[in-house]
Order: sequence, then C-alpha cells, then structure tokens
Amino acid sequence: MATSQQFDTLAASDLIAAAEYMPIGVSIVDERLRVKFWNRAFLDILDFPEALLRVGMPLAELFRYNAERGEYGSGDIDELVAARVALAQRFEPHHFLRKRPDGHFIDIRGEVIRKDDGTVGGFVSLYQDVTREKTFEQELVESNRALGEGNAKLQRAYEELRETELQLLQSAKMASVGQLAAGIAHEINNPIGFVMSNQSALKRNAETLVELADAYSAREAALPAVEREALARLKREMDIDFIKEDMPQLFDEMRTGLDRVKQIVASLQTFAEDRSGTWEDTDLSCELDRALAVAQHRLPAGAQIVRDYAPLPPIRAMRADLTQVLLALLHNAGDAIGGGGTITLRCGEDGDKVFVEVADNGCGIAEQVMPHLFDPFFTTKPVGSGTGLSLAVSQRVVRNHGGRILVRSEPGKGSVFRVELPKSPSSPAHAGTPA
Ligand SMILES: Nc1ncnc2c1ncn2[C@@H]1O[C@H](COP(=O)(O)OP(=O)(O)O)[C@@H](O)[C@H]1O
Ligand SMILES: [Mg+2]
Repeated sequence: MATSQQFDTLAASDLIAAAEYMPIGVSIVDERLRVKFWNRAFLDILDFPEALLRVGMPLAELFRYNAERGEYGSGDIDELVAARVALAQRFEPHHFLRKRPDGHFIDIRGEVIRKDDGTVGGFVSLYQDVTREKTFEQELVESNRALGEGNAKLQRAYEELRETELQLLQSAKMASVGQLAAGIAHEINNPIGFVMSNQSALKRNAETLVELADAYSAREAALPAVEREALARLKREMDIDFIKEDMPQLFDEMRTGLDRVKQIVASLQTFAEDRSGTWEDTDLSCELDRALAVAQHRLPAGAQIVRDYAPLPPIRAMRADLTQVLLALLHNAGDAIGGGGTITLRCGEDGDKVFVEVADNGCGIAEQVMPHLFDPFFTTKPVGSGTGLSLAVSQRVVRNHGGRILVRSEPGKGSVFRVELPKSPSSPAHAGTPA
C-alpha cells in the first residue's frame, strides 16, 4: 500500500516511467469506460498497434477491434462487443485466462479504482503472458501421464515376473516333495506289508489260543476241587474274561490303523510317480455313479444328492484313477456340508472337452486357503481325519490325462470342483490352476 509520504514525493511521470518498464500489461479506464492509460507491455501482450490507442477512446472500440480479429471466437461482432461492454459496466473485480487465436495464454485480472468518496472511479486491468507456464504445465501433465503408463507397464511386467517365479518355485517345491514322498512311500511300504500280514496271523493264532483255553475250561469240572479253585483264582487275577472280550476290538482297531497307513502310502506313490495305469474307454457318468456308491457310507446322513448328467461320449482314460479323483471330490464335498446340505453332480461336454463337476453348498474355501488346495499334506481338517493328499493326487491324475481341475468357491456358500478332460487325450498339459 502506498503511504502518504510517497504521494508527496512521487510524480505521475515517475509512475508512468515505471509502468513502461513493467513486463505486465496495464490499462486504466474511467468510470464511463474511456481509456485513460496503457503501457508498452499492454500493446505487446495484446498485440495492439500503437496507432490504435488514443486517450479518451471508448473501451468498446478496443473490444470491436478484438472481436473483428477473432479474439473472442466466432459470432456476431455487435453482439460480442455488447456482451463485453455490459460486463465491463458492472465494474466487478475479475480474473480469467484467455487463449488468443495465435495460441498465447493471457492471464487477465481487473480491479475497481475507487475515488476518495468510495464511488467507482474506473477500472485497472493487468495482463500477463503465461504461455510458457501453461505450456510447461501441459508438458508436465503429458509427461506425468506417460510416466504413469510406463509405470503401469513396469508394474505389469513385475507382476508377471513374480507370477512366473512363484510357479517355478512351486514346481521346484513339487518336484522335491514328490521325491521325498516317493522315498517315504518306498521305506514304509515293506514294513507295513509284513506288519499287516503278521497282524492277520497273530489274530488267527490268538483266536486259536482262546479256543484252546475254552476247551480246557470246559473240562475243568473233571478236576479235583482244590485244582478247580486254584484255576478260578488265577483266571480272576488275570482278568481272562475281559481279555477275551477286548481282544477282537484291539485287533480291529489295529487293522483300521494299518489300512489307513497303507492308503496313505498308496496315495504317496500315486503322487510321487507318474504312474500310468491302464487306459480304457471310460464313461465318466458311470464312474461318477460308481464313486457315489463307494462314497455313500462316508457322506453325512442328511446329505442330498442331485444328479444333473448330460450324455457323454466315452473317453480314453485311466478309469480306476479317475474314480479315485471323483471319490476324493465327493468325500471333500461331504466334509464341507457337515451335518446336511446338497451335493450336485454334473457332467457334460464343452467343445473338445468333457467335464465333471462336484458342487456343494457347504462351508466354502477361504481366500487364503485357495492357493494351497493342491499342496500335498495341506489340510484344514483335524489331525487324524484329513491327510491333505487327495487333491494333490487328484491333480496329478487329471494332469496325466492332459486335463485340469478348476475351483470356484464362496466362503460360507459352497464350492464347485470341475474336472475338465480332453475328449482325446494328448500330452499332459499344465493343469490344476485354482480359478
Ligand atoms: N468341497 C470343499 N469345500 C471346502 N473345502 C474344501 C473342499 N475340498 C477341499 N477343501 C479344502 O482343501 C483341503 C485339502 O483337501 P484334500 O487334499 O482332499 O485333503 P483333506 O481332505 O485330507 O484335507 C481340505 O482340507 C479343505 O480345506
Ligand atoms: Mg480330502
């Protein structure tokens, strides 16, 4: 703000000289919109010929000159001028950016000049060429956009790389797990074999001994009383009645445990070796029913089964292996629905493929579980009830057929496991991606 001291010493000619050197255009009009003052930058920035300007000329004349040379765009000249005059007459402060036809950007700011009594005395306008700033800004926006695109590309490339790395890691891991599994299976196979046959022999022998003991007991009556009493005491002390009762149960439990171990070993072998079974003409819907018959006793009592089969052409397949796959999917569906629910079995054709689906409306699969479904030994089931092998083995089998297993699931709503197999098996393809 100018001080009164400055007013005392400053001459108008000083201000005019200062204005002449300013890089900002200045124009002043009086309260009747007549031009009072302009500086050099005003002429330069707005590209007005010097001869055009006269002190006291109506601002409307400048507006007309501009309208005629297209500064305000197209339209009726009189109307363009009238609109601008009407705006100027409002004597309101304003600030806007004008793009001139030659591409220059002019920042225009207008302020009201007031007389000492507060009434409007005129209007001062300031014009600044901001073309460079504007161009720079646009370049910046443009290069930011390009940078963004580049970044997105980089990000995509990075993600692809990571995905490939994960897949590589995964297959390396699978290979070593496979080797390990093969080793363990081989080592356990022999001992489990003789333990199982010895257990059968042992059971028979024990039964024979019990039979013999019973025969002795039947003849006890022939013994003198003293001997009979001694034997009776011995039997009580040894709790023979309990042993006789308990023994068959012990043998049964052992048998169940051994069967389970044997089954795990068999799974490990299927998983570890690229075992090739016998290829046969296979009707998948028959296999689905066969698996259902076997699985039935393990499914929850309240389970409802819906069959939705479309006719299928027979395919060449390792039939017995595929039945195991379907059995595994049925068991899992049964576990997923727990107390009760619906398992829907579908099969059909899809182009050059056939498919079988086992869908359940059970617990569904949590997002963090999804990537591990096919990992060997991955299970969410309590110790002793799940081995975590059946999906790993199933994937191996399906892959051996050149097919794949697709999984869709919504936690809390259920899951769909879809086995897709080529109608005519070619070489095994990459398979088993959760989708
Ligand atoms: N239909 C299904 N619904 C929900 N979860 C499932 C289903 N099928 C498989 N899963 C999940 O995948 C895991 C691995 O399955 P699997 O390989 O068959 O091993 P297991 O049944 O012995 O646990 C299961 O523990 C379970 O968490
Ligand atoms: Mg299972």
